[in-house]
Amino acid sequence: MPDLSYEPVLDEGECLSIGALRVLQLERLKKTLTHAYENSKPYRSKFDRSGVQPDDLQSLADLIKFPFTTKADLRAHYPFGLFAAPMDEIVRIHASSGTSGHPTVVGYTKNDIEIWSAVVARSIRAAGGRAGMKVHVAYGYGLFTGGLGAHYGAEALGCTVIPMSGGQTEKQAKLICDFEPDIIMVTPSYMLSILDEFHRQGIDPRASSLKIGIFGAEPWTEAMRAEIEDAFAIDAVDIYGLSEVIGPGVANECVETKDGLTIWEDHFYPEIIAPETGAPLPEGEFGELVLTSLTKEAMPVVRYRTRDLTRLLPGTARPMRRLERISGRDDDMIIIRGVNVFPTQIEEQILTIPELAPHYLLEITRPDRMDILAVYVEVREDIDGSARHAAAQTLASQIKKIIGVTASVTIVDPNFLERSAGKAVRIRDLRKKG
Ligand code: DLL
Repeated sequence: MPDLSYEPVLDEGECLSIGALRVLQLERLKKTLTHAYENSKPYRSKFDRSGVQPDDLQSLADLIKFPFTTKADLRAHYPFGLFAAPMDEIVRIHASSGTSGHPTVVGYTKNDIEIWSAVVARSIRAAGGRAGMKVHVAYGYGLFTGGLGAHYGAEALGCTVIPMSGGQTEKQAKLICDFEPDIIMVTPSYMLSILDEFHRQGIDPRASSLKIGIFGAEPWTEAMRAEIEDAFAIDAVDIYGLSEVIGPGVANECVETKDGLTIWEDHFYPEIIAPETGAPLPEGEFGELVLTSLTKEAMPVVRYRTRDLTRLLPGTARPMRRLERISGRDDDMIIIRGVNVFPTQIEEQILTIPELAPHYLLEITRPDRMDILAVYVEVREDIDGSARHAAAQTLASQIKKIIGVTASVTIVDPNFLERSAGKAVRIRDLRKKG
């Protein structure tokens, strides 16, 4: 991994002291609550039903008096019911598909797009990106916020954007070779598909022009970071965000520390709650991330339950707090005989075994009332039968010893598992519902 010794370049917001930041957050929070209450009927009725008014917020600690917002609220008011700005001020709409029913729809005013671009520009800068660099965007363009979010942020920073979008893997590799980008923005799992394509074409990925990868939109691990950094000889950092809150750029890792994601707290206020009860948890405890937007106009979100599990950590590279790398979503958590398991925990174990590739799928079945976990994982090229067998046994025993669950491990050939050009599908749930 190269040591580029990036000298951080900070904007005004990133330099605020904790004290100044809390004052700014309180002021912005009051404005957001008033704006939501006055301009969005669903927020007004929610607040009224909970017996709270924007004026009840006198300190940041008062935020817990306000009701949560969930994906169900967005669906119930599909498509535009939560908007707090008139339609002629909405300049952009995005949506995420979701697994059932209506997609969740979000809107942006011109100002929202500017703020979004600024937080993504800041994220790219935190990753070591600078004006004048070329950015290859392989997040999908369209209703998904990844492509356009990255695009506008990179442009705002003064970079040259290559709007490749996801898919067409052969062309991805060709354009990386021919256009010589410095930065790639893509899901970590699709970066692995691009890596396979480099190998297939006999091109040395370490010799590419890429210096930085900004990876997010799905959970990934430290082991995956090491895999990608080593394969491409780049610095790999984590970017987090969700459409309901703005898109990518809610939090980003700083390349000089690579120790979790700095939350851009001047725009997003974080809390951690116990997912089962909704009770606020003390700083540093592991639970569900809840976010409140502080500057959004078209669709402010108040205490949005992300379902992402993480913890808040004190600032290091910046005064703002950090998020520990997201372990997963609570709905991706598998419970095997009472033990909670995230796909990322299995990924970590896979990547400790040199014969195994970072392509895997978890299958859950419930033949008779007990959940059974099967792990399918690809072997690396040129590994023979006995080494495959040994790798399967090692993985099964590490999963048992370190995670504490029994899993059946099946080693499959390279390229056996389906690839995705965006977010990877890690779980196949074959349990009968109901
Ligand atoms: O995935 C926005 C995004 C695009 C983020 C590009 C980063 C890069 P949604 O499609 O609404 O938006 O999905 C949001 O993806 O609640 C998390 O569960 C997951 N997610 C996003 N970033 C990360 C990350 C975009 N860095 C959902 N680590 C979120 C783990 C992530 N999970």
